[in-house]
Amino acid sequence: MTEFLDEARAILGEAHVLTTDLAAYVTDWRGKFTGQPLAVLRPADTAQVAATVRLCAAHGVPIVPQGGNTGMCGGATPDGSGAQVVLSLSRLNRVRSIDPLNNTLTVEAGCVLQAIQALAAEHDRLFPLSLGAEGSCQIGGNIATNAGGVQVLRYGNTRDLVLGLEVVLADGQVLNLLRALRKDNTGYDLKHLFIGSEGTLGIITAAVLKLFPAPHAQAVAFAAFKTPQQALQLLGLMRGQLGDRFTAFELMSQASVAMVRRYFPATPALFGTPHAWHVLMQASDASGQQALDAAFQAALEVALEQGIIDDVVVATSEAQAHELWAVRENISEAQQHDGSNIKHDIAVPVSGVPAFIDEVLPLLQAAYEGVRPIVYGHLGDGNLHFNVSRPAGWTTPGWQLETDRVNAIVLDVVARYQGSFSAEHGLGQLKNHEMLLYKAPLEVDVMRRVKQALDPQGLINPRKLLPD
Ligand code: FAD
Ligand code: MLT
Ligand code: ZN
Repeated sequence: MTEFLDEARAILGEAHVLTTDLAAYVTDWRGKFTGQPLAVLRPADTAQVAATVRLCAAHGVPIVPQGGNTGMCGGATPDGSGAQVVLSLSRLNRVRSIDPLNNTLTVEAGCVLQAIQALAAEHDRLFPLSLGAEGSCQIGGNIATNAGGVQVLRYGNTRDLVLGLEVVLADGQVLNLLRALRKDNTGYDLKHLFIGSEGTLGIITAAVLKLFPAPHAQAVAFAAFKTPQQALQLLGLMRGQLGDRFTAFELMSQASVAMVRRYFPATPALFGTPHAWHVLMQASDASGQQALDAAFQAALEVALEQGIIDDVVVATSEAQAHELWAVRENISEAQQHDGSNIKHDIAVPVSGVPAFIDEVLPLLQAAYEGVRPIVYGHLGDGNLHFNVSRPAGWTTPGWQLETDRVNAIVLDVVARYQGSFSAEHGLGQLKNHEMLLYKAPLEVDVMRRVKQALDPQGLINPRKLLPD
């Protein structure tokens, strides 16, 4: 492998072929997977990515693409063989162009999501993808995972926000699909193969993104309920009254909110008495604040009159809106501090969410006395993070040994609701085996045929997404 590393240094420069101090690249965000790569390669542009991929193909070296390394399923973590390389896209962080009239932005894969949001705002536009990891995740990673986040209700998943892509294929050729068009029926829409492919079909190096009018007005509230059914009723009411201005609707159980307060003590207590369920909601509008406030307030009053909401706090300043959002956005980190949990990222039809919750919670409680479900997520999309923390007194390894049984309890019900066992985080190496349990064999087979066609040597992120 000395020859391989020497050739890599010739392409990338000595400083960008790392073989020591690799800690930042070898463990996933949750700390569930750690690998040992041959090297971390840091190309600066598409031409260097292409040359690196050609080199890997020639030497039979497997490649693990990596963006901000915030993924939840170990997709960007190398295995322990010492034979794979991590291909970090961080240095591909240039903005290629912005076209405010076409409402498009062309960026390289390593641009950090928050920087893209800020750039759009500078041009009085919105790039609506928004998630807790936005300060470090990269657009290439967002596209590769088809990330969801908190505004899918209004703007869709990442897939809906991408107009064009540039991809380096497994043989090192550059596939240029960087079209900034909203209509283009000229054959298969190949970009969609790569969106959500978790780095298994090619390396995304650049993308054309859709922009929207900047929302100048925003209204945020935190509501409390006894049941998820009430939350669902509120969703219907708010959407009915506010239409497309309604942009986020995030559900949180009492245990999720209490956990955030435990690990982030500055979190304010929002209500005098605890409530079983909460929702954080947001409406935004490109026009005036007063009109939006009036419509938002009127809708909440109807909900209070009809007994749909038990209590509500409406943000009266931008600072308070941030404070309310922080409760929701700190859940993942609080859960990291809280120790081992078995994570689920499921979706069922929105209308089925309350019944689903009512069905699964008793099954878990019957199976494990004192089990601590931490349920939160994007109720507006029917996507719940139905995480299961170990019961008090259990050790972490002991609880992880229960993973298959806990998964079966939750995911078998998901399957009955014709739901998804991974709604927005993808499969990586954490959930790829669940394909064999919950997807039709023909669907898996067609995916394998696509993989074989695009990566016949099997060198692009092997054993991720598809099970062996
Ligand atoms: P990485 O973790 O580096 O990689 C993820 C996958 O994409 C890997 O399989 C990798 O090989 C592949 N990949 C990365 N870059 C490329 C590329 N350029 N070309 C080809 N393949 C590539 N996700 C959601 O969907 N919704 C949320 O609300 C959400 N909230 C989060 C909150 C927190 C606090 C954290 C830590 C994570 C959250 N995530 C969420 C998960 C994660 O942030 C997303 O999956 C994100 O899109 C990953 O981007 P990344 O750049 O970190 O990718
Ligand atoms: C979220 O919605 O907070 C994310 O998807 C991350 C998580 O599930 O913890
Ligand atoms: Zn989420």
